[in-house]
Amino acid sequence: MKIGKIIAIAALIAGAATIANAADGATIFKRCVVCHGKSAEKVPPGGSIVSATLSAEEIKKSLRLYKTDKEHGGKMKANMQIQVKPLSEEDIDAVADYIFKNFHIAK
Ligand code: HEC
Repeated sequence: MKIGKIIAIAALIAGAATIANAADGATIFKRCVVCHGKSAEKVPPGGSIVSATLSAEEIKKSLRLYKTDKEHGGKMKANMQIQVKPLSEEDIDAVADYIFKNFHIAK
């Protein structure tokens, strides 16, 4: 019984690690859609920029700053600080590249 539980937990952890390591931009972006729109084409509630107009580098820089600099952003920055918290460096690169490649709108 006990061993069964341990194996089940180990399998769960291994599964979660696999998902996290994959750094799949499309999967990560699903979390962003509710506020940014399905093509990053919306101004998020309380925000001011359409993420799709940014370059991949600008998106990466912005996401890293939300993660490392508490002062970065506008009045709704707390929303983004929560969003970027679980993202690894690879996740940030993957989701930014995904947004840029698929949805970029030239300014
Ligand atoms: C709960 C709603 C919400 C979710 C979910 C969300 N964002 Fe945001 N995002 C915002 C708001 C609001 C702002 C403006 C924050 C501010 O005032 O600094 C913002 C700002 C940004 C910015 C800065 C420039 C811009 O485009 O406005 C980027 C880049 C960004 N978000 C990317 C993402 C990515 C990538 C995800 C998914 C991992 C995500 N967001 C998820 C609400 C959200």
